[in-house]
Amino acid sequence: MNNNSNTKRDSLESLLNSEHIVEIEKMAIGGDGIARISFQEKSLVVFVPKSAPKDQLRIKIIAVEKNYLSGVISEVLTPGPHRREPPCSYALRCGGCSWQQISDEEQIHQKELLLKELFQKFIPNISYTLSPTVRSPHVFNYRNRIQLKRHKKSLGYFADKSHDLVDIDSCLIADKRISDQIPQLKATLKESETITKFELRLTQDLAFEHHKIGEKGEGLAFSQVNSEMNALLVGGALDLVLAANPKSLTELYAGSGNFSFPLLQKLSNLVIESVELNPELTSAAIKKLTAQNLQKRLLVFTTDCDSFVQRRRLSSDFILLDPPRQGATDVILNQITKTLPKNILYISCHPVSLARDLQKIRLDSLGYKVSHLQIYDMFPQTDHFETMICLTR
Ligand SMILES: C[S@@+](CC[C@H](N)C(=O)[O-])C[C@H]1O[C@@H](n2cnc3c(N)ncnc32)[C@H](O)[C@@H]1O
Repeated sequence: MNNNSNTKRDSLESLLNSEHIVEIEKMAIGGDGIARISFQEKSLVVFVPKSAPKDQLRIKIIAVEKNYLSGVISEVLTPGPHRREPPCSYALRCGGCSWQQISDEEQIHQKELLLKELFQKFIPNISYTLSPTVRSPHVFNYRNRIQLKRHKKSLGYFADKSHDLVDIDSCLIADKRISDQIPQLKATLKESETITKFELRLTQDLAFEHHKIGEKGEGLAFSQVNSEMNALLVGGALDLVLAANPKSLTELYAGSGNFSFPLLQKLSNLVIESVELNPELTSAAIKKLTAQNLQKRLLVFTTDCDSFVQRRRLSSDFILLDPPRQGATDVILNQITKTLPKNILYISCHPVSLARDLQKIRLDSLGYKVSHLQIYDMFPQTDHFETMICLTR
């Protein structure tokens, strides 16, 4: 840091612990509300957790970063029109849900705004129509698995942006069959001096089970947490693939075949090559495809997508990808743009990586149009969501 920026930082530091009256403009990626304060003729962005759009707040600055400030609410002076009392009594302390204080309707509106703003920033020249968001049939009690932390006698989630444990006896976004087990589990687990993590989940037969993470696998094998929304997501993908009617399809980040099997069922001439790194997931897929006699129509590769795309030709008909939060790698995006498939279906759980990846694909110069764009509200009460985008050439 040079002297100049040191001085600037020092003067910003003077804002630490200061109180301000602000209005929340909108919500940000990460779940906090965004407000601004004037300082030395500059407008500084302040991120405020647990706020709601148009809230008038007294806030206290608790952290000063190079380009922004962090604040906490000291007092809600005038609640915004969409603020509500969080239905869960832990919500204002718990780091599990960032948006329970915002009405369900407004949460959807803010998710749509976030996506549009990111597209405007990363791919401003691309035209699209954002279809109405697909709502979760249940906005509470929808999660079929949760991860809780145990410390001493407490069991719960970390508080927002901290490692302080919020001890809970129920979780309003977990399936009731999981939530109802929390008090009993807390009473039976050994006390722990260090923080240990537990996964609580419903099995395929909807029975409750729990395990310490690190003991039975690492809890890393992917499965969608909102089963009803997953069915809608798969249905939406199915419709788009059906409309394109491809003969071949490459599926990257395929998991255990969440999309592959329904696709093969609907399209009798389709052949899929699917790629997934986690052997636990691919062996489940292989078991299923063997049982269904689909060996000739589904080829499952247990490997890293990067190495796959470098040594195997991708489908020129259809590429479906559903990457983790960090998005696709440059190697994959380059190989996709070299292949120039007729259709690309990108399912994303992180809108920033989606927008950045779409920018890298150089859609307009390669002749791609956005034929479908839609949010799937997979994670109500939080700022997270799934986006499905179909690109057609
Ligand atoms: C968002 S999940 C999607 C899984 C699947 N499409 C589904 O709907 O169940 C992303 C998947 O990518 C896998 N994965 C992560 N990094 C990978 C990589 N480099 N190569 C291949 N698969 C990877 C993860 O194991 C995970 O199953």
